[in-house]
Amino acid sequence: MLRKSADNPYTKNNGEQTNFHSKPFANLSFLLMAGIYIHIPFCTQKCHYCNFHFSTSLAQKHDLVKALLQEISLQKNYLQDETVETIYFGGGTPSLLAENEWNAILKSIQENFAVSPNAEITLEANPTDLTTDTLYAMKKSGVNRLSIGIQSFDDEDLKRLNRNHSSQEGIDSVKRAQDSQMENISIDLIYGLPEMNSAKWRNNMQQAFSLNVPHLSSYCLTIEKNTFFYHQKINKKITFPDDEETALQFEDLMDETAANGFLHYEISNFCKPGFFSKHNSSYWKNISYLGIGPSAHSYNHHSRQWNVANNSLYIKSLGEKIVPLEKEVLTPVQKFNERILTGIRTMWGVDENELKNIFSEKFISRFKKQTQPYLESGHLICSENIYSLTRNGKLVADRIASDLFLDDDVIA
Ligand SMILES: C[S@@+](CC[C@H](N)C(=O)[O-])C[C@H]1O[C@@H](n2cnc3c(N)ncnc32)[C@H](O)[C@@H]1O
Ligand code: SF4
Repeated sequence: MLRKSADNPYTKNNGEQTNFHSKPFANLSFLLMAGIYIHIPFCTQKCHYCNFHFSTSLAQKHDLVKALLQEISLQKNYLQDETVETIYFGGGTPSLLAENEWNAILKSIQENFAVSPNAEITLEANPTDLTTDTLYAMKKSGVNRLSIGIQSFDDEDLKRLNRNHSSQEGIDSVKRAQDSQMENISIDLIYGLPEMNSAKWRNNMQQAFSLNVPHLSSYCLTIEKNTFFYHQKINKKITFPDDEETALQFEDLMDETAANGFLHYEISNFCKPGFFSKHNSSYWKNISYLGIGPSAHSYNHHSRQWNVANNSLYIKSLGEKIVPLEKEVLTPVQKFNERILTGIRTMWGVDENELKNIFSEKFISRFKKQTQPYLESGHLICSENIYSLTRNGKLVADRIASDLFLDDDVIA
């Protein structure tokens, strides 16, 4: 099924592909551009499904921001001379930062990197943090995109998820953001929730459409270890919709978003033309990114690295001017698999010609052999050498991606 993947590191068409490789964004230059992700590891309370890295104590916020500034300056050469086209404050809850804190972070990024004057600057926000004053301050600081964690418009769902806001507070926060002239707004919704059926899910989506937001990220609930839901599930205290029901909800999502003029550009992401997330697209289009903050991941075509997921250790290490990270140099097979996983989930698909420019003939012939059964079963389509998922393929995207992975024996 289609699950939320850690963010730092997807038409109504009756079974046929209409939008997935029509390349409406082909005029964008993705060459020599990069992104910066900043992880803000604090939340006011722990939602029952979430296992992202965060603390519910804000005691270390000041020291952590100081450490973030230190890391930004220590990592100033990581992106070499690539232009930073996107900056993304993720979490945790970045909207818990004070104005002077996000301003200091943005100033430091400007001082240490080549930032495009038109950079997309996104901030993830929880509804109750978005007061009119805060929205005004964010806009003044250059934040030009908001991702609001709505999750559901149903008060019962919100209680069950342990969210700290009501449905009305969610609606009001979107309206306040629109009133403050923030045009680029995304909302997050989760389907596959306990007690959710198709009728309830459709109501949620209709509410989202009536708010007229240009971007929607919609994830299927994943039961993650170390969450309240995980324990409830193993102790059989809550029943969750089965795979058949969540697949129906995903089909509703595809149908309703298409009927309301959204492009399905990545398995869990939908936008009005021109409003796709440039930052997340860079993860899917093999563009370098630097992750700042505890648990943040970075990628530069050759290697991946990830920071320690512990606020105290992170602060201590940066106090000694050391970025606490682990690094993995990618093998050719890992690089290949990475491109399959990220490409196949998007409407841009996997371009065989691009693979041929980078990988050996052995890789390409194995890829063609592994795609064949899915082309025959109608889960994949290939047009002008670009492989992408059909509607049926999107229902089993993760399984297809893993079946297309190469094993290490391919280079033997
Ligand atoms: C890490 S959160 C950060 C945003 C912000 N703190 C909030 O909650 O609104 C990003 C998004 O991931 C999604 N998410 C987190 N855990 C999930 C899970 N277990 N299953 C499905 N979606 C999940 C939620 O939709 C959430 O808005
Ligand atoms: S979903 Fe957002 S607010 Fe809730 S615990 Fe996760 S990061 Fe924090």
